[in-house]
Amino acid sequence: MHGPKTPPRSFVTSRSEWRGKAPGRVNLIGEHVDYLGGVVLPAAVDRFTDVAGRPSDDWSIESDVPGGLAYVRAIGEELDTGPQSVHVVSQVPPNAGISSSAALLVALASGIRPDMDGKQAALACQRAEQRATGVQVGVMDQFASSLGRRGCALLLDCATLEYQVVPFPDEVAIAVIDSGEHRSLAATPYNQRRLEAEAGDPKRRRHVDSEIARVHAFVAALHDRDFDRMGELLQESHKSLRDDFEVSTPNVDAIVELAWSLDGCYGARIMGAGFGGSILALVERAKTDAFARWIGRPVLICSTADGAFVRAA
Ligand code: GLA
Repeated sequence: MHGPKTPPRSFVTSRSEWRGKAPGRVNLIGEHVDYLGGVVLPAAVDRFTDVAGRPSDDWSIESDVPGGLAYVRAIGEELDTGPQSVHVVSQVPPNAGISSSAALLVALASGIRPDMDGKQAALACQRAEQRATGVQVGVMDQFASSLGRRGCALLLDCATLEYQVVPFPDEVAIAVIDSGEHRSLAATPYNQRRLEAEAGDPKRRRHVDSEIARVHAFVAALHDRDFDRMGELLQESHKSLRDDFEVSTPNVDAIVELAWSLDGCYGARIMGAGFGGSILALVERAKTDAFARWIGRPVLICSTADGAFVRAA
């Protein structure tokens, strides 16, 4: 299991002029529909990226994870700040499907412009991600990291950016399983899938339309506390992502099927962009230790968390 890292004491030095913090995210259901204006149900989770920085002569980043400089520059340009020197400490594992890049961007935005409106921050971070990677991502990840709410998932309409908080029960643990197939989105057919779906390819559209219906059914099941039904919907979502949207891999399919068979698991599916990455499983809270042992791979057991732009009431 990945243990949370805490920022070292020296993390925020007297020379830091700003600091920010933002969570990773999971998506309960509603995959590959955000960039088509569909509805999604993500949640921010309790793994965070911390950043600190100050204006400098040139852009620089100090981080355990390579490759962050393009993101720092891109959000700096979006927010129209001059060059910054940035220090990053993250508990959000990179390339594993819980959106380390959104956590980094939103943490930076919350440090540089703490008074920004959360929706505007999410849109700026989405544009920065597109600019940094060339991948035409939707807004879901940045939105969840900005405005997710502890104890809740967000039912987000990506066409209007209207959202509702949907209570999520603590006794259902959110398990994120690392498939071991790590990839950067730029190296995947993400843009190609988006274009195919936008062009109305029948198989891709069948996924999109059925997935949006599943989001609504999942919210109804959540309301009824029908955890078995929620699990069935995850399984249907996985089959649709595997067969109609074709973003799974044989290794991921095998892990999903193993998770389905384990005691205490309501359901599981590939999560996020796919092509490897991570698997989401919903598990009875009391059975998570045994679940993690049987899966035999790194598992993050997550709870929901507040986004970076959620203000104390
Ligand atoms: C990635 C993107 C999101 C979304 C998912 C698939 O996480 O960043 O915008 O498209 O893939 O649902």
